[in-house]
Amino acid sequence: MCGIIGSTGEAATLNDLVEGLARLEYRGYDSAGVAVARADGTLERIRAVDGTGSLRLLAELAKDRSDGYIAGLGHTRWATHGRVTTDNAHPHMDCSGEVGVVHNGIVENFRELKEELEQAGHVFSSQTDTEVIAHLLESYLKDGLSLKDAVMSSVARLRGAMSFVAINAKDPKVMVATKRMAPLIVGKGDKANFVASDIPAILGKADVFYQIGDDQVVTVSPEAIELFDLAGKPFELKEIVVEWDLEAAARGGFRDFMSKEIFEQPNAVRDSLVGRMNAKGEIALDEMRLDPEELRKINKIFIVGCGTSYHAGMVAKYAVEHWTRIPTELDISSEFRYRDPVLDQQTLVIGVSQSGETLDTMAAMNEAALLGAKTLVVSNVMGSSMARAADAALYTRAGPEIGVAATKTHTAQISALMLLALYLAQVRHSLYPSEISDIYSEMLRLPDKIDEVLVGDAAIEEVAQSMATVKKFYFIGRHVGYPVALEGALKLKEISYLPAEGYPAGELKHGPIAMIDSDAVVFGIVTRTRLWEKMISNIEEVRVRGAKIVLIANNGDVESISLGDAVFEVPQTHPLLAPILDVIPLQLFAYHLAVALGHDVDRPRNLAKTVTVE
Ligand code: AGP
Repeated sequence: MCGIIGSTGEAATLNDLVEGLARLEYRGYDSAGVAVARADGTLERIRAVDGTGSLRLLAELAKDRSDGYIAGLGHTRWATHGRVTTDNAHPHMDCSGEVGVVHNGIVENFRELKEELEQAGHVFSSQTDTEVIAHLLESYLKDGLSLKDAVMSSVARLRGAMSFVAINAKDPKVMVATKRMAPLIVGKGDKANFVASDIPAILGKADVFYQIGDDQVVTVSPEAIELFDLAGKPFELKEIVVEWDLEAAARGGFRDFMSKEIFEQPNAVRDSLVGRMNAKGEIALDEMRLDPEELRKINKIFIVGCGTSYHAGMVAKYAVEHWTRIPTELDISSEFRYRDPVLDQQTLVIGVSQSGETLDTMAAMNEAALLGAKTLVVSNVMGSSMARAADAALYTRAGPEIGVAATKTHTAQISALMLLALYLAQVRHSLYPSEISDIYSEMLRLPDKIDEVLVGDAAIEEVAQSMATVKKFYFIGRHVGYPVALEGALKLKEISYLPAEGYPAGELKHGPIAMIDSDAVVFGIVTRTRLWEKMISNIEEVRVRGAKIVLIANNGDVESISLGDAVFEVPQTHPLLAPILDVIPLQLFAYHLAVALGHDVDRPRNLAKTVTVE
């Protein structure tokens, strides 16, 4: 899951590539590199390997080297094949050094291709799978093919999910790019055109953005952008509507993207919720492409997702079953298709994916479609691969999320999934219209309630700083408090690198309680629900074993508050909506602890924002 970019045209500069890569850094930062085609017919490569400092180093190395720039490619790497070394950093080149390639994804059959190419005399200089693409292109160019035809012939031989961009120093103005189950878009600017893994990379430089479909090839020159299938048949370009501006993608005065995004949650949730009820008082999800008649026939639902999106899906399972009475299963995407799930035309599979590009979720959705199920994706990215492939899409409107740890997209996802659950209840008449409008009205109060939670930031920071030496954390909750516990633990793990486990509180006594002692900190979700009393008993069980207790409780709930060594208060809401509020203090706690430990919260080690490998 690397980030790739390319630019060509009179106004294009090396700086565009470096700036674009900085906005793609969330996709990986093991190394960074550019290849620049100059007017003298050369392809110059600059590569930097310095962990989270790779892009800074690249920017220094590339400074003032735009002279004679005609076109160029850039790459930020999350290593899969080949260690993190300069030789393995992209762009990769053919034997002649005239063909440059940047690539995201995996060439699954690279070993056999490499063997074949080596036997034909090609000399490899890296351990990457990517380099076979450069040499394959070289061999087709030698046969007299154009770069476009060489890319088409190469794609037909490559297995796996990937996108790549290629350039030939002999005809440097024309970049050729392609994708298969990996993100790639094209941007048209005034005097320069671009390709990139995602829109923020070229926001402010391109004015119009276009989609590329799987196994399509796009040629991008300063004068034209043309799209073809692998047989060379031209396709009309489809524009992507972009509502984000450059400022939305920048830090806006915050210390880092993660804190900015945590504080953007009132807007992210509001924007995802407003305007979803029509004048007749019905939930109206305009972008849904599934016919209500089809939704009435659904008799089973699966929800699939990874990481934070999986946790949002878990909250949704409770609401969907409770409000619609449709049996609903929840699966981690990477497990779903390997367990032989029972699906048919009356099954709805809901994929939850912020990026809409996560390979495991995309593969799960594809499997579901193959088995005849209806598919619907909840995504934050319009025109993402999953949104285009699914039968229906429901968008969260959280704006771009740059921090690797998902925050605002999580609460926006739960909001959108709740809307979906209400919509299903509406078309199937499993709730009264007045019940639906009461719940929707309460949802619209959530942004103000989130503001109230955020006011507690300084107090949460103090508690986090006081726990900077704690070595083990547990998070417990019941019912919809359980996914909140899992998400609290995941946030802490991914940015603090500390052991943190989330458990359903009732399960503690079946094993995990053996780990509880006075070194442990236990977070408990004790906001008022049907299971509050049982939760309180579970808190007592860990308290008497010496653990330090931090509670997420409702404002002024003295009974709960008296049990905590520290308490983060949140306003009361509908019990099924509570995770949207309850998770926020846990995001803030994880954030402040990671900062106190001196970690880079936007770029946690070993992680990438969008995981496009299996
Ligand atoms: C969230 O903090 C994580 N970085 C990760 O678990 C993420 O939620 C997961 O990879 C799924 O991504 P998606 O929503 O883009 O599919």
